[in-house]
This record gives sequence, structure tokens and C-alpha cells, in this order.
Amino acid sequence: MREKLKEIFLKSNHQFISGEELSQQMQISRTAIWKQIEELKKEGYQFEAVRKKGYRLLNEPDDISSEIIQRECHTKIFGSNVVYFKSIDSTQTKAHELARQGAKHGTIVIANEQTNGKGRLGRSWFSNEGKGIWMSILLRPSFSYNEAPQITLFASIILTNALRSLYGIDIRIKWPNDLYFEKKKIAGILTEMHGEQDQIHYLIIGIGLNTHKTKYPLELKQKAGSLEEFINQNPRRIEILCKFLEQFEKKYELFHQKGFAPFFDEYNQLLLKKGTPIVVTQSTSFIYGQIYGVDENGYLIVKKENGEMIKVVSGDITI
Ligand code: BTN
Repeated sequence: MREKLKEIFLKSNHQFISGEELSQQMQISRTAIWKQIEELKKEGYQFEAVRKKGYRLLNEPDDISSEIIQRECHTKIFGSNVVYFKSIDSTQTKAHELARQGAKHGTIVIANEQTNGKGRLGRSWFSNEGKGIWMSILLRPSFSYNEAPQITLFASIILTNALRSLYGIDIRIKWPNDLYFEKKKIAGILTEMHGEQDQIHYLIIGIGLNTHKTKYPLELKQKAGSLEEFINQNPRRIEILCKFLEQFEKKYELFHQKGFAPFFDEYNQLLLKKGTPIVVTQSTSFIYGQIYGVDENGYLIVKKENGEMIKVVSGDITI
């Protein structure tokens, strides 16, 4: 019964619904409606109640605890073991620790806040309480070390598509795995692995997605953005998470069998637009050029200022 009431409110677009209308739709008394609303409040739903107008849903709960992930997301592997922290230094560090202790393939470490989030290239990752999805996924794949970097590209496709389908906005991938909306970075992915040349013991994909508006430190202000700034609604982390995990699980087997090749067209379509001027930083040198696309290995093809095409295997690009 409570599920039906939730559905009515979620469809109401934050408009008032009178007690009478609710009781008619639900086929229960107005007192019973009031009781159900009190129960929903305990789950974290917030309402405004005004005499003669009825009830209006203000906010839905946006918990991402393990119970909620396991209840809401329809996955078998990625979500079968969820380790949640209200606050932790880094889910990535924790995932490494759990992996060393033998945690299973598909384990997810997720936190509401990170106090020492790690970014790529030794940078830190700003992860304020409740303002994003800070999650690390543990994989135990059977592909080789060389193929592993491409999983980051795969994960960025899945995340981009999840956000595009939920919110209909033109999110793009900045090679290799940053998600941008216009000039703002809203998500980053950090993949780390442990193993030998021909055998990976485990691999950890760390995903940081800024969902809610927050005050960024000065050095990030120009560059970082949150989903909420660009959509006309309150992003729901659980909804994003489930969409991501479900799609990840659905397509992972294909990636595992065939690698990046089946996904490379899709990646190119989501890549920052062809022709975007970029600077490639490679240890001590800079290359100026334009984005051309990626090849089947996931390497970036850059058209240099003199027209020459080059392949970038690793490094960082600046737009
Ligand atoms: C980047 O630099 O763009 C990658 C950022 C990755 C951040 C995520 S948040 C969850 C996981 N835990 C960490 O400490 N880092 C990754």
C-alpha cells in the first residue's frame, strides 16, 4: 500500500494532493492516509501539509546504504556484496584492502563521504557528504593486464549513458574517462589493478560522480560541476546507481569476452566533439592538436596542428 502512495506522490511533480483525492485513489480513509504519510516520513520522505490543500512531497530520501542498493537495484553480481560507509578516507583504499582479504568479484564499496578521496595521476578527489556517488567496484577478470585499461573506457560509456537516459542531457566523455557537461567535469573514473603481466588478481574501478551542488574549493571552482546544476530536478543517487549497475552488469560479459572493440563506435559517439582543440600532456612535453577519435584499442587519435595524426596511449588532455 505504501508503494502505491509513493508512486502517487512521485508522479505528482511536487504539487499538492488533497487528502480526499488520496483517500479516493488509495481506497482507504483519510486517517489511514495520514498514518501512511507518517511512515513515509520515517523512511526519509519530506512533506508539506497545508489545510484545505493537502500534502505536497518536498523531497524523497536519497540513501545509498547497502540495504537500499540491494533492495532497489536489479543486479545479481554487482550489488550482491555492498559495503557501505557513512564516512571513510577512500572507498578505493578500502576496496584494495577487501580484495587482498579475498572479497568476491562484484563487491561494491560505497560511501556517503570520503575524507581522502583519490583521483587520477596522484590527485585528490573532493567528495563532500551526500553530494555525490563515491564508489569502488572490485572485479576479478580473466583478461590480461594489457586489456585492462580499456575497462575504464567501458565504465565511462555505461555511466554517460545512464545519466543521458535519466536526465536527457548531452554529457560527453573527455578521453580517457572524465564525464563533462559543457565545460564542467562532473565525474571521473580511476582504475587500479593488481597482478602480473598475464594474470590480473583483481581490478578496482573507482567512480566519483558529483550529483548535488556543493561549494568547491577555489582550485576546482572553474572546472568542477554537479549534475544538479544542469538538470531541472533533484538527482536521486539511488536511481543513478541502479541504472549504472544494471547496465554495467548487462554489458560486462560482452566486454569480458570481446574487449573494447564492440564498444568503440559508441565511445566515439560520446567522446567530446571531433575537432575540439586540446593539449596533450606527456610527462614533460605538450602536444597541441584537435580530437579526432579513439581507435579500437581505446587510444586517442589526435590531429596535430601540422595535420599529422598521432596516437596517444596514456597521459592527460586539457581542453
Ligand atoms: C579522476 O581523477 O578523475 C578520478 C576520480 C575517482 C574518484 C573516485 S571516488 C570513489 C573512489 N574512491 C576514491 O578515493 N577515488 C575514487
